Amino acid sequence: MTTHRIGLIPGDGIGPEVLSPARLVLDAVARRHGLTLTYTSYDDWSCERYLREGAMMPDDGIDRLRDRDAILLGAVGHPGVPDHVSLWGLLIPIRRAFRQYVNLRPVRVFEGVDGPVRGARPGEVDLVVVRENTEGEYSEIGGLFNRGLPGETAVQEAVFTRAGVTRVLDYAFALAARRGGRLTSATKSNGIVHTMPFWDRIVAERAAAFPDVPWEREHIDALAAKFVLDPGRFDVVVASNLFGDILSDLAAAVAGSIGIAPAANLNPEREFPSMFEPVHGSAPDIAGRGVANPLGAIRSAAMMLDHLGHPAAARDVTDAVVSVLAGTDVRTPDLGGTATTAEFTDRLLAFL
Ligand code: NAI
Ligand code: MG
Repeated sequence: MTTHRIGLIPGDGIGPEVLSPARLVLDAVARRHGLTLTYTSYDDWSCERYLREGAMMPDDGIDRLRDRDAILLGAVGHPGVPDHVSLWGLLIPIRRAFRQYVNLRPVRVFEGVDGPVRGARPGEVDLVVVRENTEGEYSEIGGLFNRGLPGETAVQEAVFTRAGVTRVLDYAFALAARRGGRLTSATKSNGIVHTMPFWDRIVAERAAAFPDVPWEREHIDALAAKFVLDPGRFDVVVASNLFGDILSDLAAAVAGSIGIAPAANLNPEREFPSMFEPVHGSAPDIAGRGVANPLGAIRSAAMMLDHLGHPAAARDVTDAVVSVLAGTDVRTPDLGGTATTAEFTDRLLAFL
């Protein structure tokens, strides 16, 4: 019997509403595959805690997570707390402390999900965005001066290191090789004249180490347009922190709903726990109504099983997702249905 210790961070808004279905699904497949999953839930690591105690998590939060085998997170963010506070108080410290430098966001169009884009047909769109997750445009370097004066000025520096760019590119090239696919690198070296030509140069260098992987480079603006016009032509798309964030939401929307998109924050060396979370946020507009789509969280849980070395269990979850979408018309409202989170989850569990 294999045992894994899972840390659960439900967070805010619909975070807890999508994490409980994910846990039901995990327990159902775990039973079938002879796995024991034990959970520690960090229920109050949230904006509520921030409003009460001035911090999203305790001072020793990172240390409390350190011996988990993986972390499953719902979402953080609350209208009463500035978004940079909730993000930088929890998610970003975890990603950085645990060197989760790969943010993996698979995008696939499912049979039975009508996307807004005509060209996004089931079976044709199956791509992965590999987002650099620990540096780039998301840096703390910079500041404000002349605060509050007419000449008020903000400066924010992007940070690209050779080591940081190389490791995420190597991950992306290796992934493209495993998938027998192609790598597309998102750039903007026509407008951003220091960091992006540097990124491009390292892409060309690393490509030499993966001679069997065809690759190309696209400016981010043109790439965004092509994601909408012809999403089926992409396989692995590697991008900096900001570009990858935007592209993955765009790709998720093209595939039908941001509510079904999963993500993994990976520490590929496995020195630290990796963290799995839906792409979406806390959705305060629908929170508390029990109608959130749990598929983003459930598919993130499947990615977690895969990472923990249980690809067959992960496949069972994906198969159940495929079956419930293709074989029934039970849908949450974001996909045009009327089912509640619980009703949808019950149908999915029936397929497991
Ligand atoms: P969001 O993803 O929370 O919501 C965008 C839209 O998609 C909303 O209309 C929402 O109702 C809908 N939506 C999202 N997930 C859904 C689901 N599972 N089922 C059905 N509909 C769903 O993004 P938004 O509005 O930009 O941010 C809201 C809060 O979430 C902010 O505080 C933001 O900072 C935070 N956020 C947190 C993230 C995280 O914890 N990883 C990621 C993105 C945003
Ligand atoms: Mg995002």
